[in-house]
Amino acid sequence: MTKQLTTDKGTVIIEGPVSQINLESLEMDEGLGNFRSPVRQKEALVHIAGLPEGMVYTARMEQAIVGYLLFHFPNEFSRWNRHPRLMELGAIEISRGWQKRGLAKALLGAAFTNQVFEEFIVITTEFHWHWDLKNSGLNVWEYRDMLKRLFGSVGFKRRHTDDPEILEHQANMLMVRVGNNVSKNHSDMFVNLTYQHSILM
Ligand SMILES: CC(C)(COP(=O)(O)OP(=O)(O)OC[C@H]1O[C@@H](n2cnc3c(N)ncnc32)[C@H](O)[C@@H]1OP(=O)(O)O)[C@@H](O)C(=O)NCCC(=O)NCCS
Repeated sequence: MTKQLTTDKGTVIIEGPVSQINLESLEMDEGLGNFRSPVRQKEALVHIAGLPEGMVYTARMEQAIVGYLLFHFPNEFSRWNRHPRLMELGAIEISRGWQKRGLAKALLGAAFTNQVFEEFIVITTEFHWHWDLKNSGLNVWEYRDMLKRLFGSVGFKRRHTDDPEILEHQANMLMVRVGNNVSKNHSDMFVNLTYQHSILM
């Protein structure tokens, strides 16, 4: 899938899933430093693109990645890993100099035209310590609402859970998108996973 987005800084190519080989040939924009250094983040993108289920979507200006969105199965130690039809949206990041131009919305919109997501429950676990409050000019609640709207634009909804990491701060949240072809059985399994501690008590 490839599409173009016209911005005041030029035309950005939105594409994916991008292969490992193609990713290796691209540069990372230096403003992609929210989670780790651009060099380390590129290694992570290449690694994820090489996983059997991994998918990386990029926003690219010529040969430079200015934004990315990635999906993978949940960490093996997480409760979500016990679900057979669950994928995690691992991260979305737009380079600092490219934000507020619609790139994140375009990446999400493009990725969710991929019919494979209709077979899966996709989650994103949003922890406020990953957010770029300083650069955004938003407080933690405004940032949370901005993300709720952003992920909501492709059908994610906030769900309550007793996942201790989510409960660590009131701004943290679990957002969930249930694909159109997910069975009732798999939806019910997911609901059971959201509350684990209360069941054990
Ligand atoms: C969150 C992030 C991905 C948004 O990327 P972006 O390309 O700037 O977002 P978009 O331009 O597509 O904007 C999406 C919406 O959010 C709003 N928005 C984005 N940044 C904003 C800001 N700093 N202040 C106010 N509104 C903002 C836009 O106005 C837009 O709203 P609209 O749909 O009502 O018009 C980007 O800020 C980022 O990379 N942050 C650091 C990493 C991060 O927090 N990732 C999310 C957790 S994994």
